[in-house]
Amino acid sequence: MLLEAPVYKELFGAIEIYEVQKVIKLDTQTKDVGSFTVKNVPREDIYRILEDIAIVVPMRNEKLQLVDGVLKAIPHQCPIIIVSNSKREGPNLFKQEVDLVKHFYNLTHSKVIMVHQKDAGIARAFQEVGYTTILDEKGSVRSGKGEGMIIGILLAKALGTKYVGFVDADNYIPGAVNEYVKDYAAGFLMSESDYSMVRLSWRHKPKVSKRGLYFRKWGRVSEITNRYLNALFGAGTNFETNIIVTGNAGEHAMTVKLAEILPFSTGYSIEPFELVYTFERFGKWEGVEEYRDVYDQGIEIFQIETLNPHFHEEKGQQHVASMILSSLGVIYHSKLATPALKKRILEDLRLHGLLGENEEPPKPEVMPPIGEIDINRWMRILEENAETLFKFDV
Ligand code: GDD
Ligand code: MG
Repeated sequence: MLLEAPVYKELFGAIEIYEVQKVIKLDTQTKDVGSFTVKNVPREDIYRILEDIAIVVPMRNEKLQLVDGVLKAIPHQCPIIIVSNSKREGPNLFKQEVDLVKHFYNLTHSKVIMVHQKDAGIARAFQEVGYTTILDEKGSVRSGKGEGMIIGILLAKALGTKYVGFVDADNYIPGAVNEYVKDYAAGFLMSESDYSMVRLSWRHKPKVSKRGLYFRKWGRVSEITNRYLNALFGAGTNFETNIIVTGNAGEHAMTVKLAEILPFSTGYSIEPFELVYTFERFGKWEGVEEYRDVYDQGIEIFQIETLNPHFHEEKGQQHVASMILSSLGVIYHSKLATPALKKRILEDLRLHGLLGENEEPPKPEVMPPIGEIDINRWMRILEENAETLFKFDV
């Protein structure tokens, strides 16, 4: 793969965040490209690490045709982890997903592990290892994409992969999904740290309009989140920037070592929270002893602009509004946010009718790092108690 070499990066304490890198050519071999402004990540290298990247596919009531395309597009070497929160009654969509995955496995012999988020066996495993912040008042795992991702990360850890990546299940273009995973691999191959993250941005996010397909450059949510994340970064470093373009990147991947030390927030606020927490905790040289290795190696954040457009399900205005609120809530409640920045966020949200006069955006609910969890025990309890755990070839 040829990518723009990252000419420019921002430093914030132990964090290095690279400017967005466009994919220039999807597939190349070892040949040297002989240019300092273009980075070559040979196909052979990408294929070498794919088996070490577990791909988590969170899903909730998505169209089966889309799920099918996504599964078929994930490179064969990657273990697939499906965490579903789909309906189990009236109608039982989860059963249809299980049938689809079984059929997919019979055809492909891919490595797949699948579980339902609300399986009482998962709740019990979390309960017994003392990770109760992920549970609701009734004692089952809360709904939410973030919660599903955490289950996925733990399953990746149990499988022993070095990296974990996420792809949404509602993608209309299987070829795009295939690229995303290779983009993750390319990012990891450029990284020199065990603590790294690759976040994808879209070249275009097409919408259907009266004039036909319109290739939008930005999604609405990301535009707003990125603006305030950059402002937060500026508040922390005293240098304003526009380097962050992947605040809401649902399509992203990280080393399991990084995933182990990050607290996660709930639902759709999880992606901006990953950055905000990283800035808060590792943006300064404090408490270095606790995370010696992280400070020694640094945290590298890559942002890659995909060649493929991103074409997914439209979930409506309400969904977009709540995503903006929870994303800005994460920034607003950050300890790096200055009074002036908080004021701007409030004014913006009120102007757009997303917040009442005396209201504040929601404070993110934070779950502690999963690194402390005894993974063998968690997995054993899950295997002994789960009713919806399916393992194929793993
Ligand atoms: N396991 C699980 N549990 N999965 C869920 C849940 C849940 O409670 N809720 C949603 N999902 C799945 C969806 O089925 C989909 O595969 C994926 O999570 C993303 O959800 P969408 O509802 O499609 O979100 P979106 O497309 O509006 O937003 C996506 O892109 C944003 C950036 O543009 C998400 O990836 C966001 O997290 C991201 O910020
Ligand atoms: Mg979607």
